[in-house]
Amino acid sequence: MNYLKCIECDATYDIDEIIYKCGKCDGILEVVTDLDEVSKKISTNKWKGTSLSVWRYADFLPIKDRMNIVTLNEGGTGLHRCKRLAEKIGLNKLFIKFEGENPTGSFKDRGMTVGISKARELGVSIVICASTGNTSASLSAYAAKSGMQCIVLVPAGKIGVGKLAQAIAHGARLVQVQGNFDDSLDMVLQLCERNNQIYLLNSINPFRIEGQKTLAFEVVEQLGVPPDCMIMPVGNAGNISAAWKGFNEFEAVGLAETKPRMIAVQAEGASPIVNAYRKKALTIEPILSPETVATAIRIGNPVSWMKALNAIYDSTGYAETVTDQEILDAQRLLAQNEGIFAEPASATPIASLRNLMDEGVIDKSDSIVCVATGHGLKDADVITRVFGKPVEVEADIGKIEKSLNLLVKYDRWLE
Ligand code: F0G
Repeated sequence: MNYLKCIECDATYDIDEIIYKCGKCDGILEVVTDLDEVSKKISTNKWKGTSLSVWRYADFLPIKDRMNIVTLNEGGTGLHRCKRLAEKIGLNKLFIKFEGENPTGSFKDRGMTVGISKARELGVSIVICASTGNTSASLSAYAAKSGMQCIVLVPAGKIGVGKLAQAIAHGARLVQVQGNFDDSLDMVLQLCERNNQIYLLNSINPFRIEGQKTLAFEVVEQLGVPPDCMIMPVGNAGNISAAWKGFNEFEAVGLAETKPRMIAVQAEGASPIVNAYRKKALTIEPILSPETVATAIRIGNPVSWMKALNAIYDSTGYAETVTDQEILDAQRLLAQNEGIFAEPASATPIASLRNLMDEGVIDKSDSIVCVATGHGLKDADVITRVFGKPVEVEADIGKIEKSLNLLVKYDRWLE
């Protein structure tokens, strides 16, 4: 039987109890999956007939009745071999798992399909989250699909326009909070405490993590084996924790023989987890005023920090920071060499590669999966702001040719 467990004091709770933190020690919770049960179910091989998606792994997911599943067809995202980019950086086997291919354009949909399905199973009708943008975009879509009321709190003026548009379009009750993401999450936690009819769907909710662990399952199946290194952006620290849980579960039921090293990447101005890792500390020091161009990971006090540090330490992984300039350069490099348009936060793993090579953390021969967590269109304003606006020319063929520099030399383009 599946149940909830505190990751700090091991206290256990019923899987249907609506609880986000341990009643005994305030630690965060995880779903303990009954892997004996999973092994029995998957031994029939029935799941192998279904296509790559979150629900292909239903046997691993804590939803009791399939009638409760709310889905927009999430998961099944591409694992793209990046030869041109790999060559530029000096690597052999570089892959991008492009989570921007999910229904609302980010990896959040993996967690949200499971989180909302659980909400339906629990009979909930109002859901809430705090967000740097993608969680709110995803939650509002799944709430709309399931007919639930949705409340989202976001840091005022600090989320990508596309993400804001998604929450508005799907009809969420949207509040822009003066402050950063950590303030918004604090408000949301208090709202849930004061009103137990509101169900919290941030990644502190362990059912979100369950859906997000399918990212690891897909990577193993797409590659045939786990990669040597999994490099992921870290904000509130749910996703790296989820992927690590996924790799562990696949190994435990005999679907993988190894596990990757988990490498966390944070922006220089918002890096509490990297700071802790550098000191080999077992706890983080929150950053009061996090700042980065990668607004999705502009977080100073990540809720799942302990799960993330466990993932890094247990996998003999690593943690690295990147500067805003490195992030924007990596975003452009990915878009212009591989045709993958990822938002700034999603480019942080790519931005880290050269440093990781120089520091001897990764090797030319390693198989490396970088997770590009969200689509670039969500934060398109950053492109025109940073790279400048395109030229505007009269509809006159001579002037057009001149502006394209065609009159000078075509050959130069190919150099
Ligand atoms: N990449 C993107 C595009 C994100 O939106 C987020 C988090 C992360 C990476 C980091 O993932 O929090 O699990 O460590 N976005 C959250 C949100 C916080 O509200 O959309 P994490």
